[in-house]
Amino acid sequence: MLTQDDLKRQAAAAAMELVLEVLAPDTVVGVGTGSTADHFIDGLAAHRGRFRGCVASSERSARRLADHGVAVLELNEVDSMPVYVDGADEIDSNLYMIKGGGGALTREKIVASVARRFICIVDESKLVDSLGAFPLPIEVIPMARAAVARRLSALGGRAALREDFVTDNGNVILDVHGLRIIDAQAFERQINDIPGVVTCGLFALAGADIALLATQRGVRRLKAPRLGET
Ligand code: A5P
Repeated sequence: MLTQDDLKRQAAAAAMELVLEVLAPDTVVGVGTGSTADHFIDGLAAHRGRFRGCVASSERSARRLADHGVAVLELNEVDSMPVYVDGADEIDSNLYMIKGGGGALTREKIVASVARRFICIVDESKLVDSLGAFPLPIEVIPMARAAVARRLSALGGRAALREDFVTDNGNVILDVHGLRIIDAQAFERQINDIPGVVTCGLFALAGADIALLATQRGVRRLKAPRLGET
């Protein structure tokens, strides 16, 4: 029986195989945040002479990359990336995700938006029928914390301030419990429209392109339905 961490390592190794196909001396790789992304970073570091460097979605990942001797670039220095690799807290069959359990959701969404392909690496516990059992993280400007919490309560959620946590951008996180997310894209738009919200941890308007789902019987590769059969 493989542990959850073994499965995370397998998902990361499967992503590494896909990334190896695009590595060239000028390639920049987008790198996510979390324990699964950490495994990916460790695997990628073995190839550090073969590509230009990485853009990291958090200070934590940037430090891990730098400790491995991988060049860490500012996003502003980079026009495009072939791929962004990151974990998720929940993912559904549309490859819509909830992210931000580690609090890095804003930079994750930004870096992913510049990459041509989002590869999500998860163990099988993250695959859900519908999103929302995992409390939805929302990054909020500190002065708007109470106002945003009231608006979320009107949408049916219970917003809890993440205690003793400040994001890399100097903001706070509200974790929203008890949500019934039926139309994830519409819900993401609705939350994005609340003044004071920096980023909503729903990644549905731009979900993953590919998910590598590590199970006890091997790694399954799921493709976003919107990409069709090609
Ligand atoms: C970080 O902010 C999150 O979006 C992570 O991608 C997510 O929490 C997954 O984390 P693990 O890989 O540690 O499960």
